[in-house]
Amino acid sequence: MDVKRPRIIAISSGKGGVGKTFVTLQLAATLAALQRRVVLFDGDLGLANVHVLLGINPSFDISSVVAGEKTLPEIMVDGPLGMRIIPGASGMREMAELDGTGLARVLQDLTAISPVPDVLLIDTGAGIGPHVTTLARLADTLLVVVRDEPASLADAYGLIKVMHRDFGFQKIEVIVNDTSDARRAEGVFVRLNEVSMRFLGLPLTLAGVIPHDASVAQATRRREMLAQRPDSPAATALRKIANNIAALPPIVGPQTFLLDRAVARPAEAS
Ligand SMILES: Nc1ncnc2c1ncn2[C@@H]1O[C@H](COP(=O)(O)OP(=O)(O)OP(=O)(O)O)[C@@H](O)[C@H]1O
Ligand SMILES: [Mg+2]
Repeated sequence: MDVKRPRIIAISSGKGGVGKTFVTLQLAATLAALQRRVVLFDGDLGLANVHVLLGINPSFDISSVVAGEKTLPEIMVDGPLGMRIIPGASGMREMAELDGTGLARVLQDLTAISPVPDVLLIDTGAGIGPHVTTLARLADTLLVVVRDEPASLADAYGLIKVMHRDFGFQKIEVIVNDTSDARRAEGVFVRLNEVSMRFLGLPLTLAGVIPHDASVAQATRRREMLAQRPDSPAATALRKIANNIAALPPIVGPQTFLLDRAVARPAEAS
């Protein structure tokens, strides 16, 4: 049976500390401010920290759903601007080792929520190991966050290579984050795209450039979303990215889409 289902965007980076959680949370808030129904899954299963940033203390998290003790709607909590959060399970090895089919079965329940969310954003955490690829391979779009530094570019390429070669990913978009110079930032994308074209034959898309924004630190401390500070440079950049996502058509497909995808992109390939 065909149903409406959320567009799934995984936010990943290879290298740690480049702004995945920042982008995921702020993009979720910006989309929510555009009246989109957004669910954010804190998929950093090693060190889930979205709830810490938001100052919420959820009673349950995804591990209870995986254990069959709770349903997905039961563990979801309200976040800023109407977004809903699926809290991640910190430091649980069994969660980090959960396979794609198990996760797909859990997330599948998003189509049973009424009304069905428009977008599911997943913060995958850092690295290119199974804890990241298991989640990322369920996505429609992989959004790779990079910073203008060699290690970030190298690790982003490593991630793109794994996702393309091992999981057949075609739709990979890049956000250059925390930049001080827009022209340099575009140069960062051009270099990454050239390497991807040359060695993988895969063209990338530039989803956007987010400048370094001094107001982020204060907003984070006050637990404010940048969507509530619309004049901040990062908020302006995020709005452009969110507008493009919001303009995409709803996705209708088989109810089993996530399981189909988990099977079509088997983890054993990695
Ligand atoms: N555009 C920006 N302007 C200012 N500060 C930023 C910007 N992007 C990210 N930061 C800050 O950089 C720090 C690291 O960001 P964040 O925690 O989102 O990275 P991460 O990739 O999720 O890290 P990890 O791999 O540890 O999960 C945070 O303090 C965040 O607020
Ligand atoms: Mg993070």
